[in-house]
Amino acid sequence: MKSIELEETENEKTKRFPKKKILKTFDKVFDAETLNTIHKIAMAGLIDELEFVISTGKEAYVFRAKDKAGNFRAVKIYKTITSDFHNMNQYLEGDKRFKNIPKEKKEIVKEWTKKEFKNLEKLSKANCCVPFPIGFKNNVLIMEFIGETGNASKTLKEIRVKDLDNAYSQITEFIAKSFYVSGLIHADLSEYNILVKEEKRKEKLIVIDVGQAVLKSHPKAEEFLKRDLNNISHYFTKKGLKKTEEEIRKDIRKLKEKLVN
Ligand SMILES: Nc1ncnc2c1ncn2[C@@H]1O[C@H](COP(=O)(O)OP(=O)(O)OP(=O)(O)O)[C@@H](O)[C@H]1O
Ligand SMILES: [Mg+2]
Repeated sequence: MKSIELEETENEKTKRFPKKKILKTFDKVFDAETLNTIHKIAMAGLIDELEFVISTGKEAYVFRAKDKAGNFRAVKIYKTITSDFHNMNQYLEGDKRFKNIPKEKKEIVKEWTKKEFKNLEKLSKANCCVPFPIGFKNNVLIMEFIGETGNASKTLKEIRVKDLDNAYSQITEFIAKSFYVSGLIHADLSEYNILVKEEKRKEKLIVIDVGQAVLKSHPKAEEFLKRDLNNISHYFTKKGLKKTEEEIRKDIRKLKEKLVN
């Protein structure tokens, strides 16, 4: 016998996802529209509960959340009031994927959230180590939670890596794959935006915060790439693995053939 699917009504869904349960005590932190967005994301089944804040940055909060099956999720909620819109515009303008950049602050933040999601999608497809994107709506982005047994992984800035050569090859591989396969430049690559996860006794580096990443065709692409390479050069040189910007470029070019063929 053919089974009959019964759609849940909006009312029933709301009963299953009372705003209080999803948000615990965070309802004072957000404006009404953001609260509504989080509620909608929960109703769509992407998260079941927003648990606690992992990070409060200038532009966004990052929370650990859980879905119904108990999987941890990272939820990045962009602030709609205090975000640096001038800075955001610089990366949106010149990106051919975003032709009609809105004027209103709130709308710019929504475009930015979408841009971060799209960039995560592109990078994941190219096998770059980034959190897997799960969904987005308005100023809220849901992605894979990077951590061990529920604890968010630390940034490269916060820890001392055991194997510097291994870290270097993972970073150059990330830059090469994002450049040659995805056609993207991170544009804010540094030890602050790289998480280090202990996986089978090996350190795995995961690059985060990709909202500002631009296509290679962006007018400032070379300037952003140069800045990324300089940051990486400074980090590794400071840690004892001397690498000039030119040497890093060379190492990345060496990876090209492997990736493109
Ligand atoms: N997918 C994730 N899994 C676990 N933790 C995460 C994830 N994404 C972000 N974080 C945590 O949140 C912090 C801030 O994230 P991110 O760099 O994306 O935001 P930001 O807007 O740049 O914040 P800030 O202004 O603090 O740099 C990270 O340093 C990390 O601790
Ligand atoms: Mg960051």
